[in-house]
Order: sequence, then C-alpha cells, then structure tokens
Amino acid sequence: MDNGHEISIKRDMLTLGIESSCDETAVALVSRESSGEVRVHAHLILSQVQEHTPYGGVVPEIAARAHIFHIHRLLDAVVKRGGVHFSDIKLVAATSGPGLIGCVMVGLMAGKGMALGLGVPFVGVNHLAAHILVPLLTCSVAFPYTALLVSGGHTQVVHVQGVDDYVVLSSTKDDALGEAFDKVARLLGLGFPGGSALEKRAAWGNPTAYAFPRPMLGAADPSFSFSGLKTAVRQTVEKLTLTERAVNDVAASFQQAVVEALCDRLRRACRLRWTGRLCVVGGVAANQYIRVGLEALAREEGMQLIVPEPKLCTDNGAMVALAGLLSYEKRVRDELLTTRAQARWPLAQISVS
Ligand code: KG4
Ligand code: ZN
Repeated sequence: MDNGHEISIKRDMLTLGIESSCDETAVALVSRESSGEVRVHAHLILSQVQEHTPYGGVVPEIAARAHIFHIHRLLDAVVKRGGVHFSDIKLVAATSGPGLIGCVMVGLMAGKGMALGLGVPFVGVNHLAAHILVPLLTCSVAFPYTALLVSGGHTQVVHVQGVDDYVVLSSTKDDALGEAFDKVARLLGLGFPGGSALEKRAAWGNPTAYAFPRPMLGAADPSFSFSGLKTAVRQTVEKLTLTERAVNDVAASFQQAVVEALCDRLRRACRLRWTGRLCVVGGVAANQYIRVGLEALAREEGMQLIVPEPKLCTDNGAMVALAGLLSYEKRVRDELLTTRAQARWPLAQISVS
C-alpha cells in the first residue's frame, strides 16, 4: 500500500462512495482497518439497462433523471445494509468526472449535500482512478502495477505508481473496446449492451470463419484502435444473411481479432514500464475469452494477472469510496466548495507527485 508518508487520519474512517457517471446509480460504505485491510460494509448498484434498452444505448437525459429518482432510496438502503447510522460516516466521496455531465452532477450534488449535512469532509473522485484502484479492494497488490481499463467509455493501460500517481501508457485512438463490442452486437441484432450477449454467441462460432483486421498489430506505438475492425465487421455483415450460424461465426471472429490486437498492444505498453503485475478492470474484463488471452500473455511475459470479480470491475460505489478514502489519506482536505462536475478529466491531470 501507499506507505511513503504519514497518514494523519484514523484508518478506520467509514467512507460513503457515490457513483453516477453513466447508467449505474451505485453507493457503498468502505473503511480501511488499522491493518490496512479494506472492508466493504455495504455495496448497492442499481442498473438502468431497462430504461435505455428501447433506445439501443444510454440516453443522457433519461440517465440523469433516473439517478435523481433512485439516489435517495439507495443512500437510505446502503446505511441500513451496512448496519450503521448516517452519523458513523466520516468522509463522503463521489465521482466528479469524467462522465455524462448531467449524471455526474446528480451524484456529486448528493454527495456534497450529505457531507454538508453530516459535517464531514467531501472528496471528488476521478472515475478512471476509481476503476484502476479496484484491485486494492480485494487483494493486497503492491505499487507499482499496470492496470488495463477496458469499459464502454475507456480503453487505457496505466502505470499505477501510487494513489493519485498515474502514467497513461496507452489509450485508444477511436472507439473504446466495450463500445466496439456494443456496436458489433448491434450489427448482429444482439441488443444493448451487447458485450456479454456477443460473448455467448461467439462461444458457438468459428473464430477463423472471417479474416477481420487486427488493428495496429505490430505497431511501435502501443495505442489501441477499434473503429477499423468495427467497420470491417459492418461491411461483412452487410453482405451476409444473418443466420444463427453466421452470427455466431462473426461474433467469434470479431472476438478473436480483438484478443490478438488487445494482447499485442498490451504487451508493448507493459514493456514500456515493467511492473510484473497486470490488473484488468472495466466491464469487458468479464469476458472469459479475453481473460484466457490475457492469461496466456501474462504467462509469456512473466506477469501476475489480477482480475477482480465482475461486480467490482463494472461501475460501483465501492471503488469510488476506496479511491476517495485513499486520496484523502494521502492529502487531507475538503473539496466541498472546490470540486466541480467535469465531462472530461484525463488521469494525467490528477497526478500530484
Ligand atoms: O465498466 P462498464 O460497466 O461501464 C462503463 O462503460 O464504465 O462497462 C460496460 C461495457 C459495455 O460496453 C459492455 O458491453 C461491456 O462492458 N461488457 C462486455 C462483457 N460484459 C460487459 N464486453 C465483452 N464481453 C463481456 N462479457
Ligand atoms: Zn466505468
């Protein structure tokens, strides 16, 4: 853990985390014991998938309204579930970006209101930082480590030197990987969000049926790119009759191209700053086929592979609470009046060392 400085607060301070940057309203109560062990007291996620399904994607206005509708209930419920009182909460953390601005504002304002009412400090949390610190929720991975964040909105490889101390090694030039999965799933008529449905169909398909491109394969620049692959799939699908078998084969061939491109880019990025530990977070980390590819890569490169449980890989309040708590331990402060909602907030802007 981050041992390089004196911590001037009580280690077991109960922290409320609030996440609302996209289509999940999530809250959690987290503390760190004096041993440094992290304890998740309660952790609730309300997905809005049903609200957005008719539109085939997240509708920002509907998402923000749904957050407003649900957040109070969730705050009450998480305190009950944790077996604590509101007055036990000693720090409030909420995602303040990046994300859909109307959505971020709901959780941020709820968090600020809670902190003001309880008379405790408030910390604004970077959503990407929260994702890449998730491994610390479940195991005692040491700094530095390499984090691969693969979600619907982001694809990045980050050298995690410590809390609030990140170097982005690689990111996508165009689509995020989850976005590519969702767009291809849509082409195949698999609904929204389509990543998981596509993986299921791919399990029945032939991964060599279609020769899709492996974007950036072999390039010295470790960046990712997925829009060319998505376009190749679209051009293929336009010429096909989408029988069950064709859908399975396209899904399997797309997934195979993804794994090869992902592992090639990741290998390059990891070698830029070697840590020997690779943590994979974000919704796409749930994909078992990709996981097998990453396991092979980790074996070949001599890296330890850490993939947290799916419920913590996708958007959740526990990661926000932990990121807020660790950041507060490092730099005691109250951001009640200074943090604002940000649609864009690159990780490079929060490194304090
Ligand atoms: O991290 P996440 O829950 O939300 C954010 O985008 O922040 O990630 C959601 C993304 C979606 O694009 C979804 O299709 C993708 O993760 N996803 C998957 C799988 N499960 C979720 N992609 C591929 N295979 C899966 N099994
Ligand atoms: Zn996320």
